[in-house]
Amino acid sequence: MRHLLSVDDLGAEGIEEVCRLADHFTEVSQRPIPKVPALRGKTVAMMFCEDSTRTRLSFEMAARRLSADVMGFSVSSSSVNKGESIRDTVDTLSAMGPDAIVVRHRSAGVPQQTAAWTDASVINAGDGWHEHPTQALLDCYTIRQRLGTAAGRRILIVGDVKHSRVARSCVTAFTALGAKVTLAAPPTLLPPAVETWPVDVSFSLDAVLGDCDVVYGLRMQSERQAEALVPSLREYTAQWGLTAARADHLPPGALVMHPGPVNRGVEIASEVLDGPNATLVEQVRHGVAVRMAVLYLLLGADSGQIPPGETP
Ligand code: NCD
Repeated sequence: MRHLLSVDDLGAEGIEEVCRLADHFTEVSQRPIPKVPALRGKTVAMMFCEDSTRTRLSFEMAARRLSADVMGFSVSSSSVNKGESIRDTVDTLSAMGPDAIVVRHRSAGVPQQTAAWTDASVINAGDGWHEHPTQALLDCYTIRQRLGTAAGRRILIVGDVKHSRVARSCVTAFTALGAKVTLAAPPTLLPPAVETWPVDVSFSLDAVLGDCDVVYGLRMQSERQAEALVPSLREYTAQWGLTAARADHLPPGALVMHPGPVNRGVEIASEVLDGPNATLVEQVRHGVAVRMAVLYLLLGADSGQIPPGETP
């Protein structure tokens, strides 16, 4: 595999392979010196043209723990602000010879386009409403750590599915692993042609809450909404928020997941976020090991430095 543009590039086997490698890199991350030489001499360039906290920091941390060099790039301090095109930006980064470029952009398709313009491996770190494959991978890994397997699990994805690249990648990944996915959202927040997705749909959260192993909340993505799709955030929370009262109806042990950043009290109540079944902090922690696995697969798997499954 040269690029990671979509969860489809991996399939179920690839997802399992990433999870197996992530087990190994989790162990590495727990060492007093959490670093291995697997990608020494390689350079990973970050091309983040949209805001990010956890994804960007997590990729940087992952690259450094593999001993790669990191080349930072953020739009607010770059020549993109002077009107430079994406093509010229990619050519400029590529001219410096990075081995991988991690791309986030507000438009769907930019990572694919970047892959056509560069010799580097390209990793999609979120493109518009389209995909966010490493988020889905770290979510699969979190479910595997907590529940053993995603196969046969009932996963409820709640909220702004329409604008969510996370939901698109997660539906693909979860169903590839054999989970049963239900989307719960008002019709205005569902994507067009949702009937072609391999999911069930519910227009009532209360109707499906008692019957799931995982409830996965999505952020209300107001910055991607061109019109008012819900009457008000207060009304949204009343119908679709995972309030403490609703959380009481979840089956015991059901996980509460969210990709972050979370609007506390809007999609999930604070006390639920801070409860024992919420996995938000674990998701972030696993993100580093999972991204180490992805970088290793793309850039280092043939280096022979860390045979998968063996402790170096
Ligand atoms: C998400 C994103 O940017 O796609 N966050 C993330 O990467 N963890 C989700 C969001 O913006 O709501």
